[in-house]
Amino acid sequence: MGIPTLIEATRLVEKKLSTSLNGKVNVSTHTKLDEQILESVMAIDHAKFRQNLWYNRDELRNRMNKAGFFCLILYLDCKPIAYDFGYDDEDEGVFFSDSSATAIERKGVGTLLALLETVYLYEEGYSAVKFTTEELDQDGRPLRQIWENLGYRVIDVDADNTVTMMLDVTKETVIERVKKHLPIENIADL
Ligand SMILES: CC(C)(COP(=O)(O)OP(=O)(O)OC[C@H]1O[C@@H](n2cnc3c(N)ncnc32)[C@H](O)[C@@H]1OP(=O)(O)O)[C@@H](O)C(=O)NCCC(=O)NCCS
Repeated sequence: MGIPTLIEATRLVEKKLSTSLNGKVNVSTHTKLDEQILESVMAIDHAKFRQNLWYNRDELRNRMNKAGFFCLILYLDCKPIAYDFGYDDEDEGVFFSDSSATAIERKGVGTLLALLETVYLYEEGYSAVKFTTEELDQDGRPLRQIWENLGYRVIDVDADNTVTMMLDVTKETVIERVKKHLPIENIADL
């Protein structure tokens, strides 16, 4: 099996989530700061994270201007409901996946946005993706476990319990994820 392109994988994700979310799902991708995208990310960020973790406009602008910025926005019936964004890590060839959140949880949105991010990173030649999270958040989401189940491994836990996780972006990891979450017989049939 080959690896789907980002466009092919996006189409499959839109199809799968349109069924599970019972509406029309579209995913857009961005590599430049865009004020409308910034507002969408900020609204979801503020709805899903506790206040001391909120990004304000300047913090988001600063991150969206970083080298290698890449953002996915997921729309349900034209309304932005989820995002995932990151940029180049200080380590060469590594992408820092800064933040991801979804207004509709436990329907596969987080899994599929992470998958699309991985397909993009593979296409772009990144060797790995890294991010920080916590063991358990204020609402009891077992974040480390959620990401571990998706294949990310813990590389560090610091004194204030920030958990750093990583995934090597290889052909094998991408194929494994695509097979698990986007069962397709033949990409050419898309
Ligand atoms: C973390 C987050 C992005 C996960 O997205 P999601 O769309 O709810 O996750 P998925 O539906 O793809 O689920 C992935 C797996 O995690 C599990 N999971 C998700 N939320 C869970 C919860 N609250 N408790 C236990 N397991 C959970 C699912 O059961 C699923 O496992 P399965 O495939 O074996 O059933 C989402 O919970 C979120 O937006 N949280 C608030 C913001 C946040 O914490 N962002 C991440 C910061 S690192």
